[in-house]
Amino acid sequence: MQRNLSEELRRIYNCSPDELFLHTARYERLVTLYRSRFSGQNPAFIVRAPGRVNLIGEHTDYNGYPVMPMTIDRDVVFILGPRTDSTIDTTNESLSFERRTFNARLPVPPFEQGDWGNYVKAAVHGILEADWIDAKKAAGFQAVVGGTIPESAGLSSSSALVVASALAFLTANGKEIKREPLAELLARAERYVGSEGGGMDQAVSLLAETGKALKIDFFPLRTQPTSLPKNLSFVVCNSLIRAPKSESIRYAYNRRVIECRLATALVAKAVKECSGKDLHPTRLADLSGEKLGLEQRTIDKIVAQAIGEKPLSLKEISHHLGETTEAVQKRLCTLRDGSMLTEPPEGFKIWNRYKHVVTEAHRVELAVGAFAAGDGSAVGDLMNQSHASCRDDYEISCPELEALVSIGRELGALGARLTGAGFGGCTVNAVPSNQVARFVEGVTAAYYHGYVRQEKERRFTSYANLHDVIFVCRATTGAGAWPSRGDR
Ligand code: GLA
Repeated sequence: MQRNLSEELRRIYNCSPDELFLHTARYERLVTLYRSRFSGQNPAFIVRAPGRVNLIGEHTDYNGYPVMPMTIDRDVVFILGPRTDSTIDTTNESLSFERRTFNARLPVPPFEQGDWGNYVKAAVHGILEADWIDAKKAAGFQAVVGGTIPESAGLSSSSALVVASALAFLTANGKEIKREPLAELLARAERYVGSEGGGMDQAVSLLAETGKALKIDFFPLRTQPTSLPKNLSFVVCNSLIRAPKSESIRYAYNRRVIECRLATALVAKAVKECSGKDLHPTRLADLSGEKLGLEQRTIDKIVAQAIGEKPLSLKEISHHLGETTEAVQKRLCTLRDGSMLTEPPEGFKIWNRYKHVVTEAHRVELAVGAFAAGDGSAVGDLMNQSHASCRDDYEISCPELEALVSIGRELGALGARLTGAGFGGCTVNAVPSNQVARFVEGVTAAYYHGYVRQEKERRFTSYANLHDVIFVCRATTGAGAWPSRGDR
């Protein structure tokens, strides 16, 4: 039997009647907008994909190591109708995003860099290329898109848009695909926008469960819903420093991906020289202690001795690998669009990146135990260690995130860390549930009404509502599509 809109939304958001009323009003508003933008037609489907906050396991996903995010109750919603032709016509609720139309046929050339329509194209292009829908016959769709995930804030608004676009395209074509392969495909498909991201965001958006965090392992993708410690809340605080993955932080993000690729090659070489094992790893996790049958400490020692702890130039790396710089550049520094990552003037920081990834992977495994034991203080300690490693070895923090993390800890967070790609965006704070109100008040006074107002020369984004910049995470169900019954 079909559920009506409120029933569907109650299942998704698992919230109070008051909140349910607001959620329902939002969807009804989008349906009305659909009618007004598409000459009175009724929509046929509703699609929704949530954003996420990563609790621990930062920059481990593309290295093949696990992560532990949870969804938030902010999401991207498509109100849509299939079309008889191949046009995809998306109009955004917010007027700051212009209407975007394109043809669901290969090739799918991108819009200008940074354009929101590229995330829709990424999904469509990925699905057509994988031949999941016949590229010659695919039907397009028309949709009104509404979003409540703060943008460029490390909460995965872009991946939620990719996931929602994919579900919209599949639904319009009457096609159902299993969640795991879809998440894996979309992780690759999102690279269309130019950043070499891993698979965390798409996987959690598709596979999350209400009220739970999700431990995710990769290659192949496996997920394990994880209960949150009772009486512990996770509070997100936005630093108000924009970190757009497709724009300014693209180089910084891709640089780390390449540094890890270089690390993989260097570690394999060092292990081979030491143990005679001929290895052909694709990513760092292929060289874990478990995979090699060695103690992690032993591997770390081999690596430190072979490559040292100082940054390495491309020439030095090539020398270690016994290859020409051109060969190394071509094999390991090429990005998806075929361009080469330029060598950073201070060299590639192989040892630091390696150290972060390996220790962070271990922290995720420890966090699984701490969550299972309901040990909030152990969870908090691991989050604090993760932050230090992100700041010192992965170098993805910034002064505003540091201020926000210190404020969080001073106000009683058991753990506070940056979340997502970094370079701005949000912190996530583990706060005893009975102290959340005091915590939110304290951070508001110290950061939003204090630091942000004092540091006038910095480029903070503006906000309309405090609830959009500081809020408690509530994990909703994963993304889904359902028929719209002309909800009004
Ligand atoms: C971005 C990427 C993810 C992941 C995080 C860092 O959100 O999309 O795949 O790498 O950064 O953990």
